[in-house]
Amino acid sequence: MEHRGLGWPRLPRLLELLAALAVQALRASAIAAASPDLRLWPMPLSVQTTPRVLHLSPDNFVFSHSPTSKAGPSCSLLQEAFRRYYDYIFGFYKWHHGSADLRVGVELKQLQVSVVLDPECDTFPKISSDESYTLLVRGPVASLTANRVWGVLRGLETFSQLIYQDFYGTFTVNESNIVDSPRFPHRGILIDTSRHFLSVKSIFKTLDAMAFNKFNVLHWHIVDDPSFPYQSVTFPGLSKKGSYSSSHVYTPNDVRMVIEYARLRGIRIVPEFDSPGHTQSWGEGQKDLLTPCYNGKEPSGAFGPINPIWNTTYSFLSKFFKEISTVFPDEFIHLGGDEVDFDCWASNPEIQDFMRDKGFGRDFKKLESFYMQAVLDMISAINKNSIVWQEVFDDASKNLQVQLLVLSFQRGWWHPQSSKLMPGPVIQVWKVEDYTQEQSKVTEAGFPVILSAPWYLDWISYGQDWKHYYAVDPLSFEGSQEQKKLVIGGEACLWGEYVDATNLSPRLWPRASAVGERLWSHKDVRGLEDAYRRLTIHRCRMLRRGIAAEPVFTGYCDHEDRM
Ligand SMILES: *[C@@H]1O[C@H](CO)[C@@H](O)[C@H](O)[C@H]1NC(C)=O
Ligand SMILES: *[C@@H]1O[C@H](CO)[C@@H](O)[C@H](O)[C@H]1NC(C)=O
Repeated sequence: MEHRGLGWPRLPRLLELLAALAVQALRASAIAAASPDLRLWPMPLSVQTTPRVLHLSPDNFVFSHSPTSKAGPSCSLLQEAFRRYYDYIFGFYKWHHGSADLRVGVELKQLQVSVVLDPECDTFPKISSDESYTLLVRGPVASLTANRVWGVLRGLETFSQLIYQDFYGTFTVNESNIVDSPRFPHRGILIDTSRHFLSVKSIFKTLDAMAFNKFNVLHWHIVDDPSFPYQSVTFPGLSKKGSYSSSHVYTPNDVRMVIEYARLRGIRIVPEFDSPGHTQSWGEGQKDLLTPCYNGKEPSGAFGPINPIWNTTYSFLSKFFKEISTVFPDEFIHLGGDEVDFDCWASNPEIQDFMRDKGFGRDFKKLESFYMQAVLDMISAINKNSIVWQEVFDDASKNLQVQLLVLSFQRGWWHPQSSKLMPGPVIQVWKVEDYTQEQSKVTEAGFPVILSAPWYLDWISYGQDWKHYYAVDPLSFEGSQEQKKLVIGGEACLWGEYVDATNLSPRLWPRASAVGERLWSHKDVRGLEDAYRRLTIHRCRMLRRGIAAEPVFTGYCDHEDRM
């Protein structure tokens, strides 16, 4: 479907397109040029390195703004990134050589950063944000050029990964030329703060590690059956009654801090408020929201999914999501919609009457769709786009699917790769059985897809399971080129039944790094041996930077004492 006629005059896009074409031409050389001693993760689109080395002295080296850059020292996002990357490069090493003790050869004194278009310093990253960059490492001044600050952030990460200490401990970098941009615009990590509360500090750590792996979306599955830690201003009872305790709560200030910490790293926060199932904790603080289950003619005392037949349900949800839409700046809200249990609905006489009146018969999928459509409409009305789990698509009739598509096309969002307007809702494919068939079906119906099915990191097994995550290709399903363009990316999911702050980092990293490279790098970057070598180095690098990433296999890191 072409939707160019809707009036999105974006001139800079033309420039970006041209840049993208140039990059395509470079792709062929990317893989051929990958040296056996490259330490980069994820692998950039095009890398050329030479044997000529430059030396850096911690006392002399600076990050600077090019005089022609559209961003300058007033861009605090970049200033903070410069500070961070200076520390990542120099701060954690025990170096014994003074600045005078540089080896022979040319010194690299500066990395000069240039932003070409409006830098977007003070905005939030979006699905359409441009993350491309080019990095030219030459002495004495290297240059990093990007259209926006988002590309600068990715380029700084790559630059920091190029630097190593030589035999004498001197900071060294090979002359190189890198042109890079991501394969998919949505590269996410799902965390679950309902099964276990995760401290803000541990979320910060996760965001740090995400930036090291060029992930750009934190899918925050913030509430679920076991607890409701989100503190709502409109409905404070929800977390007061529904959280594990008054200290297991994300206050409005906590949420703001997480969003800003993520923004500074070019990471979007997509909150998920899953309903109508997975809502037991909502019922604690919000009376008459959940469906009373029945045992014959009597209420059993138990409660099921959100009650889809009362008007009060929708007036509550409408106020609640209005708040969510102002608290979270991202254009997407995840609405869940998975694993709705129909038994409780079926037991309830009022719902039985409603089903009869509506002509739904005994088809509870119709009731589920009735509810989801109401919530989806609500989200469009507050100018946000939706992501939902695959059941919302699976259980909708063909008619409803068409209706949802038409509705969502009235909004839509910009897809950078295919340069056109996309519909929401986005369908997140999570069921591992036949997931490629599901991708075919969803994209054939015209919906965009986020793939998670092969990347459930809460499933653990003996051995190097990262290889399985790595081997997946998100586009290996039956379908046309147009269908493939509907895959906007994927997410590694870490559900929280058996995960809290003690094991969050080691369970995520470096296993999620495999997904990170799959979503960032060119599809032909697949060699397991080279990936193993680079991943081992990358894991040690994460360790050095304070992330408790678990070992890939036998061996050691130089800086294990930081843990
Ligand atoms: C960097 O330079 C060294 C010394 O010339 C060389 O041995 C090595 O292969 C180079 N590495 C890369 C990635 O080009
Ligand atoms: C619920 O809202 C509908 C539509 O506005 C209205 O027709 C109906 O009477 C309301 N039901 C109740 C119980 O208030």
